[in-house]
Amino acid sequence: MAWASSNKQIIYSGIQPTGVVHLGNYLGALSNWVHLQTDYSCIYCIVDLHALTVRMDSAEFSKKCRETFAMLIAVGIDPARSILYMQSQVAAHSELAWILNCYTYMGELNRMTQYKEKSQKNEDNINAGLFTYPVLQAADILLYKTNFVPIGEDQRQHLELSRDVAERFNNVHGGVFVVPDILIPRIGARIKSLQDPEKKMSKSDKGGEGSIVYLTDEPDVIRSKIKKAVTDSDSKVSYSSDKPGVSNLLDIYAAVKRISIEETLAALGSCSYGALKEAVAEAAVAALEPIKQRYAAALSNKIQLESTMRTNAGRAQAIASGTMIQVRNKLGLL
Ligand code: TRP
Repeated sequence: MAWASSNKQIIYSGIQPTGVVHLGNYLGALSNWVHLQTDYSCIYCIVDLHALTVRMDSAEFSKKCRETFAMLIAVGIDPARSILYMQSQVAAHSELAWILNCYTYMGELNRMTQYKEKSQKNEDNINAGLFTYPVLQAADILLYKTNFVPIGEDQRQHLELSRDVAERFNNVHGGVFVVPDILIPRIGARIKSLQDPEKKMSKSDKGGEGSIVYLTDEPDVIRSKIKKAVTDSDSKVSYSSDKPGVSNLLDIYAAVKRISIEETLAALGSCSYGALKEAVAEAAVAALEPIKQRYAAALSNKIQLESTMRTNAGRAQAIASGTMIQVRNKLGLL
C-alpha cells in the first residue's frame, strides 16, 4: 500500500460530527487539511466518540456523522489517498484511551480550560467523558505515530497534554509513542461572524444564522447574508483592525479566491460597500458551488459512503493495531 510504505511524515487531525460546515471551518481549517495531503500522509478522523459527551438523538446523530463524512470528501479530502474514518469504527481508540487514563493525572485534566467551559455550559450533564475527553484525544493522536497535528489555538492545551502523556509513557516503558507537534497553519484565514466581526464565525455565536455562511447554503441565502453583513459607518474599503466588518469581507474574498489581501485591495479597494458585498458574495457562491455538488453526490449514495467509511476504518485499524501490540507488550498485558 502506497500510503504505509511512503516515508512522508504523518498528519493527524479530528473533527466533531456536527454535520454542516461553515465558511469559517472551511477557510480556517479544512482547506488547510486538503492542502496538507500533497506533502504528508494524512489521517482525518470524525470523532463520534468525543461527541457522545453531549446527549443527542441517535437518528439525528447518525445523520450528522454521514453528513460530516460526505462534507469532508466534498471539500477535497481524498479517501483513497488520505485515511478518512469514523473514530468509533476503530476499537483501539477506546482501548488506548483507558490505558492512557492510567497515565494522566486528575490535576492535569482539572486544568483544561475547555473542560471548565464545557462543564459550565452543560451543568446538568457533567459526565466523566467530558473530563477525560483530552485523554481520548491523546489516544487518537498517539495510535498513529503522528508527527504533526493541525489544530486551532483552542486545542493547544489538549495537544500539550498528549505530548506530556506520550513522554510519560515513553519514560516508563521505553519509546513507543512519537511525541506530536502542533501545526498552526501559516495562512489559514480567520473568518469572523458577519454580524459581530470582532468574534470568530461560530455556531455558538449569538448573532444567529445570519452571522454564518454554511457551505450548503443556497446562492441566494449566501447573497442575502453577505448583503446584511455589518460594515462600518464610513464608506471607504480598507483593511484595518478598526474596520473589522469590511476587513472580514476582504478576508473572505481573498481566501475563496486564493489571493493575497494586497491583490484583493487592488481589485476591490475603490468599490462602494454595496459593490464590495456583491463581489464577495459572488466569489463565495462560485467557490462553494462545486463543493455543494460533490456533497450532494456523496450523500446521495449511502451504500457507497458507508463502504468508503468501512474501508478507511480498516486502513486505520491496521496502523492502530500495530501500536496496540507494542503498548500491550510494554505493559505486560497477556
Ligand atoms: N478536540 C478536537 C476539537 O474539538 C477534536 C479532536 C478529537 C482532535 N481528537 C483529535 C483534533 C485529535 C486533533 C487531533 O476540535
